[in-house]
Amino acid sequence: MSHLVAPSILSANFANLEADIELINKSAGDWFHVDVMDGVFVPNISFGFPVIKAIKKYAKKPLDVHLMIVDPDRYTQAFKDAGADILSVHIEACNHLHRSVQNIKNCGMKAGVAINPHTSIHQLVDIIADLDLVNVMSVNPGFGGQKFILNTYEKVKALKALIVEKNSKALIEIDGGVDLNNCRQLLDCGADVLVAGNTVFGSDNPTETISLLKK
Ligand code: DX5
Ligand code: ZN
Repeated sequence: MSHLVAPSILSANFANLEADIELINKSAGDWFHVDVMDGVFVPNISFGFPVIKAIKKYAKKPLDVHLMIVDPDRYTQAFKDAGADILSVHIEACNHLHRSVQNIKNCGMKAGVAINPHTSIHQLVDIIADLDLVNVMSVNPGFGGQKFILNTYEKVKALKALIVEKNSKALIEIDGGVDLNNCRQLLDCGADVLVAGNTVFGSDNPTETISLLKK
């Protein structure tokens, strides 16, 4: 399978979201990456259901919703109703991760688990076979435009080995600081999905940048 690119809405123009949604619709991008922050799990607040519903109305590609919130189980059905196709929860925010993952699947979504830069991939050993996606955070979550953490390369290699060992179908998604310089090495290490916010929307030609990330 060739890799996927998921432009992050967090870096889009919120005063004219429809234009940036259309841009992604017409681009080589595969998914919309949608970051939800609660100001508790991370030191920032982004947006919630009304905005996701508005994105869903215009988006012609799947919504990959990344929850950076505490106690995400309370809202699983609500995110499905808002339009999420893939829903990722943070391992650090879930006391009963297996239940959280089953709830996501039972609601009809693909299930992802996100891990912070300090969290070992070994914590995924007993859940990896149940997952559709692992979001490997390559910055500390909370903000777009941060510097890529170099330890991510080794982490992705180890995660890829675990996925093969456990015969899991989980895709490896890289989230944070992905750019045109590190994308090749990330793919070589085993990455399947590249999230990009600032690299896409901070560039002069976002459509072209998405194409370059796709190549
Ligand atoms: C960060 C978010 C990312 C963010 C990435 O907490 O999870 O998805 O949008 O943005 P860039 O690509 O600018 O680092
Ligand atoms: Zn994200």
